[in-house]
This record gives sequence, structure tokens and C-alpha cells, in this order.
Amino acid sequence: MSLVFRCGEKSIELALERMRSDGLVSDDAWFNFNAPDRLRSEVAYRDFDFLTRLCRVGDAETSRAILECLKQNEIVSKDLSFDEEVFEAFQKEVKQKFKIPGTSITPVMERLLFLLSALKRPQRAIGLGTYHGYALVWAVGASCGAQPAYGAEKFYAIDIDPDVTQSALENFAQLEHTDHIEFIAGDGLDIVEQLDGPFDYIYLDVDSRELGKGIYLDLLQGLYDKLEVGGWALAHDTCVPPFADQLEGYLAFVRDQDNFSQSISFDIDPFGLELSIK
Ligand SMILES: C[S@@+](CC[C@H](N)C(=O)[O-])C[C@H]1O[C@@H](n2cnc3c(N)ncnc32)[C@H](O)[C@@H]1O
Repeated sequence: MSLVFRCGEKSIELALERMRSDGLVSDDAWFNFNAPDRLRSEVAYRDFDFLTRLCRVGDAETSRAILECLKQNEIVSKDLSFDEEVFEAFQKEVKQKFKIPGTSITPVMERLLFLLSALKRPQRAIGLGTYHGYALVWAVGASCGAQPAYGAEKFYAIDIDPDVTQSALENFAQLEHTDHIEFIAGDGLDIVEQLDGPFDYIYLDVDSRELGKGIYLDLLQGLYDKLEVGGWALAHDTCVPPFADQLEGYLAFVRDQDNFSQSISFDIDPFGLELSIK
């Protein structure tokens, strides 16, 4: 089964209000999911200006709706809850301590990635495309920081660029409880062959010079047999229109029930995230 999650009415109205106050649309502009491009009296869901505002408003509300969606679809147990205060304390600490030259991780994505790590509580995870660690820190966040929710066994963080790997290592060194994370500088395609499984959590955020986002499928296929049944694969950037061709094969693979039992597209910011459950 594959499904799409989008932000609800309240966040949509707040984002529209921001666009009005920023002077991007007329005062009487209204939301029309499929409005034609460049028609500024109607705002479409995938309008870039709209999405960049949507991902900054109502992020707590969106994460609550996502938790309900995961429960309804029996992806997580109905008795699970999310401690927003722990997340917000961790978020404050990361923002104070991390050096990040630039990032495509939006406020709503920070919360979603942390929520998923808190719900899944991975023991053996692998993150590909570490960059400066600013996506990974949320994707594995529940096991790190001053108040970790649990103890994890081993995480690998891989990036082909040794300079950004060093920067990520220095960022994570500012946080408590990060000894379970090993940073590796190398080509993800080689490293996934070398590392022993099993894994219960994969986070993909690589942008390959040769293959672009097309590398996600190669990386996942390299890891597929090492991902345990019930394990989660997370892929960032899956809603970016210019990446659609490159990601076609990956999305077809994870949405095929022979490979993954469920796959959800979180269409909540300009970039998006696909969560697939083996
Ligand atoms: C654009 S960054 C991800 C940034 C992240 N979305 C953020 O905002 O923090 C993609 C990363 O993939 C890395 N990369 C590219 N090819 C790779 C490969 N073959 N194996 C591992 N990492 C690779 C790049 O060095 C880069 O750091």
C-alpha cells in the first residue's frame, strides 16, 4: 500500500496568511489544490512560495497529524506518544551548537525526522549523504543529546566528501550520547557492500555527481537484503519536481508490495520524504 500525507487545513490557512502578509498574493487569494501556475489569486499546494511558508507554520500540528496517520495505518502501535518538550529542548541545543553552512532541512522536516526516530527507536542504522550532519541529527535524534529516549547499538554516517564528514563529526561531538555513531568518508556504493547487516533503519540523502538522486535505488538495492523485515527506509527530497525522473525507479521499487509492505510520501515541504516499511 502506498499513500500520500499532506498538511491539513489549519496549516494551509496559516501559510496562505503569511503569503498575503508578505505581499505575494492578493488579500482575497484563496487555496485551490490544483490551481494553475502563476495565477496569484489562487494558490496551489505545490506552489514553491506556499510550501516554503507551509513548512514553517503549524509544524507541531503537522507532526501530531502524522503520528495519528501512522497509528491508523498500523505502522506504529496505538499506545505510542511523542514528547514534544524533549524534541524542542534537543532542537534548541542543536541550533545553538551545530555549524551548518546551508541546509534543505525545513522546520517541519526536523520535527518529522525526529518523530520517526522516536517512534522507531532504531538499533542499527545507516545514513548516506551525511553532509554537515544537519539532516542526520534529526533522523537519529531520539538516541542522542542530553535526554536520549533510548540507547542504540550502532549507527553509520557515510559521505563521499571527507571535509563535510569531518564537519559532521565535529558537530555531533558537541552533543552528549553520540558514541554509537561512526562517521565514514567514502563512496556509499562501496561502503554498503562492505558493512555487515542487519539494519533496521536507512536514511538516504545523497546527491551523486554522476547519478544524481538516481543513486538512491542503487544504494537501497545494495542494502535491501541487510534491511530486516519491519525495517524502515527513509528517503529525502522525493517531492522535488526536478528530481522526479531520477527518483522514478526508487519510488517504483519501494511502492511495490513485493519489496515493501507500505510506503508513505510526506508531501509537507518543498522537498518531501518517503518512508517505506519492509
Ligand atoms: C546535498 S547533501 C544532503 C544535504 C542535506 N539534505 C542537508 O540539507 O543537510 C548530499 C551529500 O551527498 C554526498 N554524496 C554524493 N555522492 C555520494 C556517494 N557516492 N556516497 C556518499 N555520499 C555522497 C555529498 O558529498 C553531499 O554531502
